[in-house]
Amino acid sequence: MNNGDAAPPLLSVENVSKSFGGVHALRSGSFNLQRGEVVTIVGANGAGKTTLIKLVAGAHVPDSGRIMINGLEVLRSEHSVANMRERGIEVVYQDLALVPNMTAPYNLFLGRIPRKWGIFVDERKMRIKTREVLDKLNVTTVQDLSRPISSMSGGQQQSIAIGRAIAWGKEIVILDEPTAALGPNETAEVERIIREVRARHGTSFILISHNLDQVRRLADRIIVIHHGVTSREFKREEVTSDRLVKAITLGE
Ligand SMILES: Nc1ncnc2c1ncn2[C@@H]1O[C@H](COP(=O)(O)OP(=O)(O)OP(=O)(O)O)[C@@H](O)[C@H]1O
Ligand SMILES: [Mg+2]
Repeated sequence: MNNGDAAPPLLSVENVSKSFGGVHALRSGSFNLQRGEVVTIVGANGAGKTTLIKLVAGAHVPDSGRIMINGLEVLRSEHSVANMRERGIEVVYQDLALVPNMTAPYNLFLGRIPRKWGIFVDERKMRIKTREVLDKLNVTTVQDLSRPISSMSGGQQQSIAIGRAIAWGKEIVILDEPTAALGPNETAEVERIIREVRARHGTSFILISHNLDQVRRLADRIIVIHHGVTSREFKREEVTSDRLVKAITLGE
């Protein structure tokens, strides 16, 4: 395909599908993501949203279709979480995947614990980096880094999970229902972080949300999944709540 001089999208997902046994979790998922863009994915429970982003994150290998990053196809053999991370894609899953009885620095460095002389955990380095990340997000409410994160509010935990995703200089951050369990103030804080990280660092976001007001506040574009198919796409300016609800429930 010849696109002339136009740069390819940062991420391009083309007709990916995934079944588990006889269950078609995702029949056909397609969407693009540009640098610095916020794309939201909406759809009913079980529509295939999480499955779609797990394919992008490398957690599942697609049965068919393809994923391109900067115009380069991700080969089947390259389709792993480690590889997608290396290419700049990080995910915050629905359940956050944080370890509740560990501190924020330990959670931030999960799977990447730095060691001094290859033996001792470099806690100082971890604390400094954690403070840096929280400052970057302008999160001022997490003060005591020696507390286990289970003693923090849901919003603070979400901030740490998002912080972990962006801490490693990532280009694409995927958030699966980041504010589903949060109150209004914490939700506003998470939305602020998304806006700020995008504005300051040009990070792109893929956001799954059931909160249509939130979707309309944050999204540049909205992708609708209906029964495992990305059936509609809207620009934020052109969509009304009625149309969005109709697309989600009826696929039209
Ligand atoms: N590992 C799996 N094994 C079997 N079935 C699965 C698996 N993962 C997802 N499914 C099924 O695939 C369908 C899509 O699931 P998915 O989690 O992608 O939906 P979702 O749109 O994220 O829903 P929700 O809004 O409830 O989070 C559902 O019917 C689900 O039960
Ligand atoms: Mg889901």
